[in-house]
Amino acid sequence: MGKKVVWLVLLVLLAVGLISIAGSQEKNKVNSSTVTMEKRGQYLVTLGGCNDCHSPKVMTEKGPQPDETRLLSGHPSNETLPVTPPGLFGPKGWGALTNNGLTAWVGGWGTSFAYNLTPDNNTGIGSWTADIFIRAMRTGKHMGAGRQILPPMPWYTIGMSSDEDLKAIFAYLKSLPPVSNQVPQPIPPTEGKGKP
Ligand code: HEC
Repeated sequence: MGKKVVWLVLLVLLAVGLISIAGSQEKNKVNSSTVTMEKRGQYLVTLGGCNDCHSPKVMTEKGPQPDETRLLSGHPSNETLPVTPPGLFGPKGWGALTNNGLTAWVGGWGTSFAYNLTPDNNTGIGSWTADIFIRAMRTGKHMGAGRQILPPMPWYTIGMSSDEDLKAIFAYLKSLPPVSNQVPQPIPPTEGKGKP
């Protein structure tokens, strides 16, 4: 009888042990799938050239490269732009001028500034959800519901990606160190001057 009780206790202990191992494996699975998603997002962001416009640059031997200390933080708020000569962009032109960091763009639409894609709560995408991001890329509207997103942001091609890929991009952006950088509002074209 005493032996049976010991066996029972051992069995119960074994079962509890197995359950907790299974539990910890489940946890690892969740963590590793988040990491995999962020990694895929990073891969897609590299391929999608997001750094070209959204990261301030540092000059290197290979030419301008994304500034690793403030990756994807958008057009630097303290940078002043030179004055654009009036009448540069004709009615049928689709030309543009850009600054040294490729973060500000002047064209027939006025001046646009690459958005802060880091998860800063006040100046970046800290308050955004994956849904807002996907809707913005699919509709071309600010946060999926506001004003028209201006050139040269290629939302129409990025928006062709699958929900899964867009979620991965968003997961990677959310994993970046937040950078506080208030990107300026776009400037409309000057009537009769830079206007197409
Ligand atoms: C050729 C330059 C360029 C490239 C490449 C680019 N962007 Fe942009 N992006 C911009 C500019 C400029 C704006 C600001 C447009 C505006 O103010 O209307 C912007 C705005 C955004 C916004 C804010 C949209 C909103 O709701 O207001 C998001 C999010 C974004 N880009 C994500 C990305 C991602 C992700 C990639 C890469 C897959 C990318 N961008 C590639 C130039 C670019």
